[in-house]
Amino acid sequence: MQDKKVEKQGIVEWIDYRLPIFTFIKHLGEYRTPKNLSYMWSFGSIAGIALLIQILTGIFLAMHYSPNADTAFDSVENIMRNVNYGWLIRYMHAVGASMFFVAVYAHIARGLYYGSYKSPRELVWFFGLFIFLLMMATAFMGYVLPWGQMSFWGATVITNLFSAIPLIGESIVQWLWGGFAVDDPTLNRFFALHYLLPMIIVAMVILHITALHVHGSNNPTGVEVKSKKDTIPFHPYYTVKDFVGFGVYLIVFGYFIFYQPNYLGHPDNYIQSDPMVTPPHIVPEWYFLPFYAILRAIPSKLGGVIAMFSAIGVLFLLPWLDSSKVKSGAYRPKFKIFYWIFICDVILLGYIGGNPPEGWYIYFGQIATFYYFLHFFVIVPLLGKYEKTLKVPQSISEAK
Ligand code: HEM
Repeated sequence: MQDKKVEKQGIVEWIDYRLPIFTFIKHLGEYRTPKNLSYMWSFGSIAGIALLIQILTGIFLAMHYSPNADTAFDSVENIMRNVNYGWLIRYMHAVGASMFFVAVYAHIARGLYYGSYKSPRELVWFFGLFIFLLMMATAFMGYVLPWGQMSFWGATVITNLFSAIPLIGESIVQWLWGGFAVDDPTLNRFFALHYLLPMIIVAMVILHITALHVHGSNNPTGVEVKSKKDTIPFHPYYTVKDFVGFGVYLIVFGYFIFYQPNYLGHPDNYIQSDPMVTPPHIVPEWYFLPFYAILRAIPSKLGGVIAMFSAIGVLFLLPWLDSSKVKSGAYRPKFKIFYWIFICDVILLGYIGGNPPEGWYIYFGQIATFYYFLHFFVIVPLLGKYEKTLKVPQSISEAK
């Protein structure tokens, strides 16, 4: 009986009765969000757009790219010179990777300042960190594909790090390479994985957003929503606000694509890879530089690798390292100062990572690495315990 009634109602109801996608879209329209979100809350959806751009441009690049050590470099040149708008698609993808990291770093920095990693959003934070790890793996493998000098030597340096693992390290490296050096099999598997991982990122983003929607967004006060008065519907208020964010993002993106497409890349990657010629200075892309500096700050190879992975690992512990009852940095005068010192420390690490490991760079690299861990393991827990915070408003509506 019920089925017959529903079938009479038209196609939308027919589908919705069996697969409630329209109910889901309606839910999104009615989704209530804190009324005080600033533009710092736009970076999540900007990151979503960035991911979409990477996937779409990547699919078109893959139609012309040849994942073979003999032809990869030329196939990229062919895309740049002969494929219709190939240059645009490639620059969108290459610049897009950097822009994606800009959006995600801003997104993480927002989370760190406003305590968005704290209860009840620990899993939102965890899925975010998994996305971040997957993004780094994807970007690293993508950079190898043009098979230029930096591609080849970057891949050699980074894969070699695994040889630091005692006993099984050498075997792992050969297994990663698919041979005894970075070569054709390495390029092939990197291409396969570079195509696969973004799909896993999409799945992770779905989990990230689903977990977020259980308790809703945090907000600049860090005070949870108390009543309907504290919220506004996501649509149209934040759809419009997010579009302003996209507009600004696309203007900056456009500037780099059309005026400075190679600014963030390394000129050596326009030289075809040559296993017999080591470039004088092997540097990763800018978004890896802080981690690269941490890797090089420890004199032992294994120690460096452990420190580098711990630099991200510690972020998983953050919800417990920070015991402050007050979420938002806006009401934490001391935390605020240390937050900005930490941001400067990461920028300094990035600067050091981009320079050769000699002279003062070595000492500053070690000090900045030490401070990075000091921040999480000592400063944040102590602040949580002893900091005198400002008066937190009772509700979002009450905040000035
Ligand atoms: C593909 C990458 C990512 C996408 C598409 C994405 C998307 C989003 C979106 C749409 C939101 C809601 C809007 C907002 O609060 O900005 C959000 C919230 C959040 N994201 Fe992400 N995200 C990504 C990566 C990350 C990463 C790497 C982290 C942290 C390591 C992270 C941590 C968070 C947290 C904690 C929230 C809740 C923020 C709040 O309510 O204050 N996300 N994300």
